[in-house]
Amino acid sequence: MSVERPDDLESRTFTVQLERPDGNWTFQAPSDEYLLYAMIDAGIETPFICEQGWCLACAARLVSGKVDDSAALTRYPEDGQAGFLLLCSARPLTDMVLRQDIHETRREMTQHRIGLNQLARAYPPGKRAGFRRGRRMGASTG
Ligand code: FES
Repeated sequence: MSVERPDDLESRTFTVQLERPDGNWTFQAPSDEYLLYAMIDAGIETPFICEQGWCLACAARLVSGKVDDSAALTRYPEDGQAGFLLLCSARPLTDMVLRQDIHETRREMTQHRIGLNQLARAYPPGKRAGFRRGRRMGASTG
């Protein structure tokens, strides 16, 4: 069952500029899709594993713009304050500029979370994870 949000009623498309050491891209991203899939549809190779917002394989930095990252299984305000986002769980709310180094950004975000002890906070005793995977927004099977 999908969860309908008021802003899901009207999809908008935003322009995303992606800066990486191996090149720069500009692509269109609809507001009702996670950024990872807009990148894949644009032919941009990018790492991902869980597609649920916890493994950090798709980590990127938000240089400018806004996203809704509420679908990520692990999500902390400190991540956003440090400029990190997870492409598999973030949908665009504005035009934006992203920066990603597929060899370094995941390590940097992991280091950031270790520094704040967020990895331990992600799995407190007794907490069930609401698993979701893939393009469907709001889907949960856990
Ligand atoms: S693919 Fe795992 S956090 Fe995005």
